[in-house]
Order: sequence, then structure tokens, then C-alpha cells
Amino acid sequence: MTTPLAAIQSVRLDDENSTLIILDQTLLPNEKVFLHLSTMEDVWEAIYHLKVRGAPAIGIAAAYGAYLGVKASKEEDFDAFAAEFEKVKAYLASARPTAVNLFWALNRMEERLRKEAQKSVKDIKQALKDEAERIREEDEQVCLSIGEHALSLLEPGWGLLTHCNAGTIATAKYGTALAPIYLGEEKGYDFKVYADETRPLLQGARLTAWELQEAGVDVTLICDNMASIVMKEGKVQAVLVGCDRVAANGDTANKIGTSGVAILAKHYGVPFYVCAPLSTVDLTCPSGDDIPIELRKEEEITAAWYEKPMAPENVKAYNPAFDVTDHELITAIITEKGIAYAPFEKSLAELMNK
Ligand code: MRU
Repeated sequence: MTTPLAAIQSVRLDDENSTLIILDQTLLPNEKVFLHLSTMEDVWEAIYHLKVRGAPAIGIAAAYGAYLGVKASKEEDFDAFAAEFEKVKAYLASARPTAVNLFWALNRMEERLRKEAQKSVKDIKQALKDEAERIREEDEQVCLSIGEHALSLLEPGWGLLTHCNAGTIATAKYGTALAPIYLGEEKGYDFKVYADETRPLLQGARLTAWELQEAGVDVTLICDNMASIVMKEGKVQAVLVGCDRVAANGDTANKIGTSGVAILAKHYGVPFYVCAPLSTVDLTCPSGDDIPIELRKEEEITAAWYEKPMAPENVKAYNPAFDVTDHELITAIITEKGIAYAPFEKSLAELMNK
């Protein structure tokens, strides 16, 4: 028996509008626990510890976090209220550095705040709640459109490889890189999906394999170092990945290991597709060199998931959470407004203005 995809709502406001409910992604696949976050500190902590993760979901959570952060404000004067909002915004923006959706969503919340400057603070709070809801609702539609565009590039029966988790739980619904897989499944495409386990935090094993299996998709888990052999054996006809930030030239930051997969795909002649909402495109970054890369704790490599540490005590470890895939390795960037091909400076700018 499979769980209908629509049943998983991983980031949403509760009915009383007082808490943000998230599916705790650190506990999957063993436990399905929904957390109720009522303060901006709770939201910051959930983003920082990857309880809510995936670029679009981080943006949605931050938008709700901004609303929760000022909801109880006692200020009645706009300037004082806006100053309080700025502090909340800066605080939430410090949770993680790479996914631009975090900053995009917070900027959008601020734009809404300023647009409503003539209204009472009570009404502005309501508008901020509405804006966060809108960001979440739009993301569903955006992901659906990405899925439709991406599906037009795929053929029934194909083997697909994905890295990390760019699925339903990383977004409002459907996912980005997994959206065409779900849509294809509904149409009987019978894809065979290979999920990289995605060291060190195992988003592929814990989240993608779980999500796809729940939806009844044929998914096979592989270790990251097995991507080459499945491509060599002809099991993979396309790679689909999500991303955290796309620079103006098409360089793309995504989960650590993605660039290696892209290099392999080029070697084996497999198309490499990046699925990205336009909210993930950052034209202020000329190239991938300008994208800040998050460094995380060494213990994620040396000790996490093991009963005992699996590395010598005090060994140095280097743990960048993302890498940048060079635009020359990317076959196409699939957005909600269409598919961008090289030269990406031109095609991305056109889609952003569409
Ligand atoms: O560190 P994470 O798990 O937040 O990294 C997430 C990814 O790299 C995803 O591929 C990306 O955010 C796209 S999610 C639609």
C-alpha cells in the first residue's frame, strides 16, 4: 500500500495560525514526527539542524518564521515595527548561507511589509501571514510546472539518477527534481530511479528512497561511489538534481557530490538536468565562485549515524555541505517558466523577465 503523495505536507501553518508545523526530516525514515514551532528561535533551530531542509522548504519556513517573529510585537508605530521586523529577518537569514531561497523569501516578506506601510500594524501582521501562505501555495504550482517541463525531456522506461533530496519534503509539494518522476509515475512511465545515498547526512537514503518508495516508485539505493558503475552499465538515461543557488552564468550549487555526478554524466554521455524554481536563480552572483558554501561540523563525517565514531579520534575532517557544478556540465536548467539551455546568461535572464 503506498501513501498518496498529497498526504505529505511537510511545512505549513496550523489552523490557529500560531505555530509552524514541520515534518522533522532528521528522524526520517524511522519516525514520522511533526514538530510545532511557535517562535522564530524554533524556526532558526529547525533550519540550522536540517529538520526542515531543501532550498524551497527553507524559504517557506523562513517566511512563516518571520511572521511568527513579529506576530506578538507590541509596536503600533510602523517604523518601530519595521525595525523589529529587520532584526527578525537578519536573525533568520543567519540560519544557513547557501540556499538563496532563504534570502529570497525573507526579502519578499519585507517587500510586503513595506508595501503595506500605510496600514495598521495589526493589518500588516495579517498581510505577512498571507504572504507566507502565498509563498507556500505558489511553490506547489511552481514545482508542478517544473515537473511538467522536465517530464517533456524524459522517456518511459528510463533509468534516472538523483542526488540528495529534491522531493516533496524539500518543497511545498511535488519537489523539483522528483516532480517529473511523480508525474511520470501517474502516467505509467515506469521509471527506474537510482538514489545516491548522499553522504554525510544521507538525504538520498533517508529521504529520497523513503519518499519514492512511499509513492510506489521503483527506487534503488546506491552509495555515492556507485554512480559511475550504474552509468557505465547503461542503467541511467538522465540525471535529475535540485539546487540551492544558480549563478547568472548557470553554475549551480547543490548538495556536496553533485559536481562529481555531473562530471561522470559528461563522461558517460548522460544528460545532466538541474531542476530549479526561479526563486533559486541569483543573478547577483555572476558565477559559482560567488556562492557562499556552508561548512558543517566534522562529526557529521566522523561519527554521525554510527554507534561508535568511525574515524580516529581528533582526525581532521573537511565538511563542505555543497559544491558548485560548472555550467559547462549542465545540459539544461529546468524552471517553472521553461527550460534554459546554454548560454545560460541569456536564457536564465530571459526566463527571469518572462
Ligand atoms: O543540506 P540540504 O539537505 O538542505 O541540501 C539540499 C539540497 O542540496 C537540495 O538538492 C536542494 O536544496 C534542492 S531541494 C528542492
